[in-house]
Amino acid sequence: MPTAVVTGAGRGLGRATAERLARDGFTVACLDLDGASAAATAEAVGGVGFACDVTDRDSVLAVAAQIPECHALVNNAGIWRFESILDMGPEAAQAVIDVNVLGIVWCAQAFVPKLRAAGGGSIVNLSSGAAHTHSPGLGMYPATKTAVESLTKTMALELGPDGIRANAIGPGLIVSDGTAANYEGEKGAKRAAGVPLRRVGAPADIADVVSFLCGDDSRYVSGQVIYVDGGLTAGAAAR
Ligand SMILES: NC(=O)c1ccc[n+]([C@@H]2O[C@H](COP(=O)([O-])OP(=O)(O)OC[C@H]3O[C@@H](n4cnc5c(N)ncnc54)[C@H](O)[C@@H]3O)[C@@H](O)[C@H]2O)c1
Repeated sequence: MPTAVVTGAGRGLGRATAERLARDGFTVACLDLDGASAAATAEAVGGVGFACDVTDRDSVLAVAAQIPECHALVNNAGIWRFESILDMGPEAAQAVIDVNVLGIVWCAQAFVPKLRAAGGGSIVNLSSGAAHTHSPGLGMYPATKTAVESLTKTMALELGPDGIRANAIGPGLIVSDGTAANYEGEKGAKRAAGVPLRRVGAPADIADVVSFLCGDDSRYVSGQVIYVDGGLTAGAAAR
């Protein structure tokens, strides 16, 4: 069975992705800062869980040493600290850069040798609609997701000759463990009204596109960003 590595697999989009890739026939290595949630996802999907902080390059390399093969890498772990540029403190700004940008680099360095050894494979990086349609008050987050899209294209160029594809997904408004509070009460309906498809997304909406990008149907797709957002980044929704 091929192996997929999913970071941030303990909850939210990462857990839904682990569930979907397991249904696709992957053995899923579930990595999360929270080792207990990684283990819980792994148990649910018949995979293997690891406590792993993607910002810690040595920790990522140590986990990779315990995973014999890798055919797909899903860099899903991400954080946000919403504040204005002028209020941004150095610790929060650095933390968002460390997880969202450098975490992807450290994971690529750890797992690309295994993708190469497998004769090729797929890397999927989680960007955000916020990289495309900017809003005030999101702090460092949109800049890090723009960086994710840039890194994705560089990976596609550098790794394509090894048969490794790299693509990014930009989720829109998705109700996950980390964002659920934004959709409580009337807030959910209000947000849904601004989406062309008139609903907010579920983690499975993202996981299904990760599945496509990890599978053979996307064999000639590389260096792309796919926004999975009900049409949100297309522009203003019709009233
Ligand atoms: N939910 C959305 O609406 C939305 C929209 C756009 C983009 N995204 C992106 O999708 C990804 C997943 O988002 P989510 O909503 O599922 O988030 P979430 O907060 O529900 O889950 C994120 C998971 O990542 C883990 N994590 C955090 N820091 C880590 C680290 N240093 N090392 C390893 N694991 C770490 C957390 O423990 C958690 O289990 C993120 O990259 C996020 O930026 C989400």
